[in-house]
Amino acid sequence: MTWSDFRFSLRRALSQHCRDGVPLPPLQLRAAGPLFVRDADFLGFAQTDVTLLQRSAQVTDARMLDFGCGCSRLYYGFSRFSVPSSYLGLDVRLDAIEWASTQIAARNTRFTYRHLDIQNDRYNRSGRMNINKWASVINYRFDLIYCYSVFSHLDVPDARELIALFREFIRPRGKVFLTAFVGQQEDDVIVNPGDMSFTCDGPLHVVRYRRDHLLEMFRETNFEVESAIENVATDNQVIFILKAA
Ligand SMILES: C[S@@+](CC[C@H](N)C(=O)[O-])C[C@H]1O[C@@H](n2cnc3c(N)ncnc32)[C@H](O)[C@@H]1O
Repeated sequence: MTWSDFRFSLRRALSQHCRDGVPLPPLQLRAAGPLFVRDADFLGFAQTDVTLLQRSAQVTDARMLDFGCGCSRLYYGFSRFSVPSSYLGLDVRLDAIEWASTQIAARNTRFTYRHLDIQNDRYNRSGRMNINKWASVINYRFDLIYCYSVFSHLDVPDARELIALFREFIRPRGKVFLTAFVGQQEDDVIVNPGDMSFTCDGPLHVVRYRRDHLLEMFRETNFEVESAIENVATDNQVIFILKAA
């Protein structure tokens, strides 16, 4: 084998997910703008999330919901020893769901994806349905709900409906892993604040909560915060691990 053949097969091996031979998603389907351009970063964040999930829940036996899954980044964080028993990914982006269905679900029957034309000013402006329509495609309750960088792009009425939806579909002793922007601010919620470390670009780029207001929203829906993890998630979001109270 020549050096260039070796480099070619190495690059090919690295670009395929080790378990099922699934390729990495194209850049336009990866969320988080420039942060996920490098494959190593895209994979690294997914692996970190799976590690964090494993610290607070039994992932292997879990029925899992990935709400706002995009192209299913989390899939790339699972190893042979940490795949959930079932995984449902939901998103309003048809291109991302089509990609995940064709590439991941087709090779691994534990993974299922659904799209609905639900309205979101950032990701599906002309969508015709309300967020609570998701309940119509969910047939069972989950041990684990993962919601990464989604709550952070919802208007407040949708965010409230989403927490209520999670409450309805979480099993007793189930956990929710959710990221949110949290700031020291007087207002309960600020959309696209001017003091972020980057410039907000377009509708609902950053929906930031005052911490006590967000905690009250969780409490009102009977969720307890098990832990809040700082300085790990993208763009300095806080990761909240919630458990049904
Ligand atoms: C920043 S991306 C994060 C994607 C993925 N969770 C990740 O961490 O890579 C936000 C995702 O939330 C999805 N989204 C926004 N509003 C939604 C809604 N109402 N229901 C489901 N998904 C939604 C978007 O389409 C987009 O894929």
